[in-house]
Amino acid sequence: MDELLTRWQRGWSLSRGWTNYTETDHVIAVHAGEPDRQVEFFTTDQYVDRAVRTALAAPHPPGTVRLAVISDNPGVVVPALHPLTVRYTLWVMSTPLADHPRHPIPPEYELHLTSNAGAIHAELRHDGESAATGRIAVCETDAVVDMVQTDGAHRRRGLARALMSALVTEAHRQGATTGILLASTEGQLLYSSLGWIPRHQLVLAGT
Ligand SMILES: CC(C)(COP(=O)(O)OP(=O)(O)OC[C@H]1O[C@@H](n2cnc3c(N)ncnc32)[C@H](O)[C@@H]1OP(=O)(O)O)[C@@H](O)C(=O)NCCC(=O)NCCS
Repeated sequence: MDELLTRWQRGWSLSRGWTNYTETDHVIAVHAGEPDRQVEFFTTDQYVDRAVRTALAAPHPPGTVRLAVISDNPGVVVPALHPLTVRYTLWVMSTPLADHPRHPIPPEYELHLTSNAGAIHAELRHDGESAATGRIAVCETDAVVDMVQTDGAHRRRGLARALMSALVTEAHRQGATTGILLASTEGQLLYSSLGWIPRHQLVLAGT
């Protein structure tokens, strides 16, 4: 299994509270148990055929099983995922936390930091209303960023970069040295602007 993917998955599972996971024959199964996401499998492109068979055999309703395959060549992985439905391609990104930019909270916004089951939750509020949220889960020296989003009415005002700065500062204070995350296309623009480096692509498919 790819080391960075394994480290990301560990923190992501902690952030989501999906800590029931196993690895069999190079395929990780995260038993999320959510109505629309019963189980999510992770593997590398080398084991995609085996992982597709495992996903198809999972005893869950259609639409509730996902398979994510890490690869530097998604064009080869996509045909191998048939008959699963390919949803989108994401980026695994990482960065050293010591060098991370520290952007201030824009005026008129307030930062609220809380901890919940191993993850640090950050929220930026405007007039008491939530404008941006995100989490970071610290696993030894790794910090995994998750669920960063800014409300549509508050975008491009520097909220996400301020929120990322606050999360990273707190994770670094708790001993984390490397940040890891899985970025959407939109998220990648944000994280690249903060110096994060794309390491691998990840193709996400489902039943
Ligand atoms: C991605 C997202 C969190 C960015 O939030 P935001 O508060 O608007 O981001 P910021 O204002 O802090 O942007 C900081 C920098 O990131 C980059 N950036 C952010 N959104 C961008 C976009 N839509 N297009 C191009 N660059 C973008 C820019 O470099 C920007 O700096 P600039 O405005 O000075 O050019 C927001 O668009 C969002 O919630 N999207 C939907 C959910 C999502 O995709 N989350 C990421 C999951 S991985």
